[in-house]
Amino acid sequence: MAEILIVDDEKLVRDFLQETLSQGGYSVRTADNGEAGLKEVGDREFDLVFTDVKMPHTSGIDLLKAVKQSSPFTSVVVITAYGTVADAVEAMKLGAFDYLPKPFTPEHIEVTAKKALEYRRLLLENRHLKKELAGKFENIIGRTPSMKKVFDLLESVAPSRATVLVIGESGTGKELIARAIHLYSSRKESPFVRVNCAALPEGLIESELFGHEKGAFTGALRQTRGRFEMADGGTLLLDEISEIPIGLQAKLLRVLQEREFERVGSGYTLKVDVRVIATTNRNLAEAVKKGSFREDLYYRLNVVKVEMPPLRERKEDIPLLAAHFIQKYAAENGKKIDGVAPRALSLLTDYPWPGNVRELENFIERAVVVAQSNILSPSDFPKELLLGLAADGEDRLRPGVTIEEVEKRLILKTLDAVEGNKTKAAQMLGITARTLHNKLAEYGLKEKAEQVPAE
Ligand SMILES: Nc1ncnc2c1ncn2[C@@H]1O[C@H](COP(=O)(O)OP(=O)(O)OP(=O)(O)O)[C@@H](O)[C@H]1O
Ligand SMILES: [Mg+2]
Repeated sequence: MAEILIVDDEKLVRDFLQETLSQGGYSVRTADNGEAGLKEVGDREFDLVFTDVKMPHTSGIDLLKAVKQSSPFTSVVVITAYGTVADAVEAMKLGAFDYLPKPFTPEHIEVTAKKALEYRRLLLENRHLKKELAGKFENIIGRTPSMKKVFDLLESVAPSRATVLVIGESGTGKELIARAIHLYSSRKESPFVRVNCAALPEGLIESELFGHEKGAFTGALRQTRGRFEMADGGTLLLDEISEIPIGLQAKLLRVLQEREFERVGSGYTLKVDVRVIATTNRNLAEAVKKGSFREDLYYRLNVVKVEMPPLRERKEDIPLLAAHFIQKYAAENGKKIDGVAPRALSLLTDYPWPGNVRELENFIERAVVVAQSNILSPSDFPKELLLGLAADGEDRLRPGVTIEEVEKRLILKTLDAVEGNKTKAAQMLGITARTLHNKLAEYGLKEKAEQVPAE
């Protein structure tokens, strides 16, 4: 139960607030002057303080300052007399959450209290998340068992010279892991070089990796070093290794085994000391079976295998990741964003994330840019998220999905199709408008339905 302190020297105001808030289910204490208020906030941490601004001796502003000193996460709402805007402005500058101008109604009080408490909850949650973020691989977020496994493996394998194969869907953090392995190895002062095997035309991969001599082929105007040479002493990331042409795989195997190779067009053998990390989002064992990937190379690469779990299989990490990206993009955009509204967070958790962490990062960046307030709300996110649909239209009727989830999505999809017209939506769903109304309320979707433009 949230604890609220009311400080006001007017008995009438105090009683009115106390009655309203007690009825609202809050635990309420009162103080009839500023000094008594100071004593109360010195004795315990309140969730919320309502204080009159104008009081003899210790004013509401003095009390506000004291609260912000001793318990910065306590929300403070100042009560101002009609027309005294200056007090309100000063209080807000000093960190008050809001002001309540007299006269006010019970609804005013309830709404203000609810918002102020929600704000405190967000601040606390954010502080909690920030603490959790400060781990060893601090830029890699995750605390599910599958991510713990990744961290343990990183810790043991990073210092060695072992070849590592990082497997996972697009956007799961394979490159991030590869860089972490480099940074936690003794090679960290030496180069980290990346080659994207999928981005190079087949004819160019060989000279890109191994370099070439002047005149080795048409257009080879001068001698050029390859990526293996550039990475000497450091780490070479071979991104999307499955795309290496089969004809080149024997040469790659030789570097991995013997650490030696020749530039294209040269008979001179070069020796390098390179640690190789390879990534793939394709099933290499399948490729071996189909004959597009050499079995011996597969075994040579697969010495240590790190499997990155898809985001939909570690949904518990979504709040942590969201907090991490909010921090990053708020700073980048010079904005102050405190967190994600509970409803938006539940949408983020429900979404299947076909693009994994990269997609979440993009969604958060966009939301931070468009957000009008300091809390990200559902309307700050793309429509796919509101509908809970995968961007690629992934079939959501897979085992493990609850009927409630399917029902929720079907309702939202239908509402969207009829542009928010609830009567039409109910007709299409074969239920009464009343049932639809109840279901929206039950699932906490009322607000969302109203955000869809009505006819
Ligand atoms: N666990 C994580 N914690 C923090 N950021 C992450 C995490 N995983 C991924 N990211 C971020 O998501 C984005 C995509 O990650 P990355 O490029 O490593 O994915 P990838 O698996 O290499 O994707 P692709 O297969 O498409 O190349 C990056 O900005 C990365 O920093
Ligand atoms: Mg990548």
